[in-house]
Amino acid sequence: MKFFVDTADIDEIRELADTGLLDGVTTNPSLIAKTGRDFFEVVSEICEVVDGPVSAEVAATDHETMLAEGRKLAGIADNIAVKVPLTPDGLKTCRVLAQAGTMVNVTLCFSANQAILAAKAGASFVSPFVGRLDDIAADGMNLIAEICEIYENYSDFKTEVLVASVRSPMHITESAKMGAHVATVPASVLWSLFHHPLTDKGLDAFLSDWKKTGQSIL
Ligand code: E4P
Repeated sequence: MKFFVDTADIDEIRELADTGLLDGVTTNPSLIAKTGRDFFEVVSEICEVVDGPVSAEVAATDHETMLAEGRKLAGIADNIAVKVPLTPDGLKTCRVLAQAGTMVNVTLCFSANQAILAAKAGASFVSPFVGRLDDIAADGMNLIAEICEIYENYSDFKTEVLVASVRSPMHITESAKMGAHVATVPASVLWSLFHHPLTDKGLDAFLSDWKKTGQSIL
């Protein structure tokens, strides 16, 4: 399973990239706005820090402008995945960009049928938003199960399921059990995956016993 971090904060990205366990980054207009920085500058920096796919989202809603924006974004670096919304114009744009060899992440997916359309449009990634479904008392993880099951039925679907709007470590465990290819996760949730109180307790005990031996390895 691949882990992307869902942020445009370059310091958070650098820290996670240092672990060697970060496979990509997703941004969206809200995350870019939060940085208060220039869109192109931030995205270029992220692409230099991370080798894997970096999602940068178009701002237009009509096909022609989305396509022009997508082509401009794709020119930033080879690892850009152009993010388009799951609308008819977005999917039309996805198809053209994908045929030209550009990675496309189709975002704002909230149903299995939308995910089928994204796969047919040749998306590299489809982003179902689990947390936002949970927020309205729908079952976000059930959507992931449905999409994974459907994609398994069609060997010509090459789209990866990118679980988005992740709010907790349980979303990640459940996604992995279902075979989702990628989870994009806030930095705080990614860091929480490393920790367990019994790991800390066990390490304390080992270190204290080792100290008693008076030995050193180096
Ligand atoms: C994914 O690409 C989106 O940027 C993101 O996961 C949305 O998450 P949110 O619902 O927490 O804003």
